[in-house]
Amino acid sequence: MSDLCVNYEEDELLESGSYSEPLIAGGVRCHGGFDEVGEYRSPRTTHRAPAILAWQEQLRRDGHGLIEVDAALMPPQYPNVEQAKLLLREGVNEPIVRALTIISIVEGFGAIIRDVPVPKLDSMIVEPIAGTALAHLDKGLFEAHARDEAGHRDQGGHKQMWEATATRAATNRCGRRPATSPSRTRRSRTTS
Ligand SMILES: [Fe+2]
Repeated sequence: MSDLCVNYEEDELLESGSYSEPLIAGGVRCHGGFDEVGEYRSPRTTHRAPAILAWQEQLRRDGHGLIEVDAALMPPQYPNVEQAKLLLREGVNEPIVRALTIISIVEGFGAIIRDVPVPKLDSMIVEPIAGTALAHLDKGLFEAHARDEAGHRDQGGHKQMWEATATRAATNRCGRRPATSPSRTRRSRTTS
């Protein structure tokens, strides 16, 4: 008999425990928080984190490898990190603000995860799925993920964190201000 704990109730997978300090981003109380030594602890991981480790270990014991997503499959992001740093140093904030805003919008759509219908997987898979992550998709995992992405009730999630980052980029004054081009100057004169 396995010593791994692989069965969880929905409430357990949504449990965050308590924090010593909240995480505030852009004036918004966000999920997660800091423990007594100042380490950030992600939300809803009191049981979810050990559950994921147990499901992974169970797979290994049964002779199944974990499937890694090859980074080469992911399309490159532009501006990349070095380009973004250069733009911000030069006071060109807009491309970064735009990229961060798009990310925050997509994160907000993460709330849809809770509405994804989960088919009767046990009728589609030969092996029993009890005690696996698949068996918990509609019993806490999707709901936890939706809250992670879009926030929940009075707590912000990734959406609000990226919004705070976009606002920070929009108000970046660390870089040099770009010189105003002659054409821009002419246009502003005619419209003022
Ligand atoms: Fe996210």
